[in-house]
Amino acid sequence: MIRILCALSAVVLGATAVLAQSSAIKERKEIMEKFSNDNKVMTAMVKGEAPFDGAKASALLAPWEAAMKKYVTLFPDDSKTGDKTRAKPELWQKKADFETKATEFIKAVNDAKGATGSADAFKVAFANVSKACDNCHEPYRGPRVP
Ligand code: HEC
Repeated sequence: MIRILCALSAVVLGATAVLAQSSAIKERKEIMEKFSNDNKVMTAMVKGEAPFDGAKASALLAPWEAAMKKYVTLFPDDSKTGDKTRAKPELWQKKADFETKATEFIKAVNDAKGATGSADAFKVAFANVSKACDNCHEPYRGPRVP
């Protein structure tokens, strides 16, 4: 009986671990997809394809700092593979540098939030945000998984 119970709890624990890993990857993708959608709206503004709307940019950027702080916690050791993750192994080897890239991103986001009063200032500040996306993707994001 005890043996059966142990076997059962091992199965349950195993299932929980799988769940934890796949939900971390899922949450990672959700945060990045949100950034990507918001990014498109603001890119259209800075390119002049849509009218500049500082209040809208400000509202879109408001949750980004908290989202990035959450993002860096979503890389447990059991989430290196699976669920079409694009995270490179280097991310776990250089966690401190990865976190520095996140901090630099947050700084650029805060500068952009402070620049929403002027279309010209926002254009410059938003370019730095995009650069901060690339600075992290270049070392830590691999190609799209089909
Ligand atoms: C601190 C690092 C970092 C920053 C900053 C960052 N990203 Fe990412 N991004 C990643 C990593 C790592 C992945 C791959 C994660 C995975 O697939 O598990 C990723 C994945 C993505 C993806 C693919 C999502 C998917 O569904 O597979 C998009 C789109 C994306 N990022 C957009 C952005 C945009 C836009 C910004 C800036 C506004 C940004 N990212 C800033 C690290 C970062």
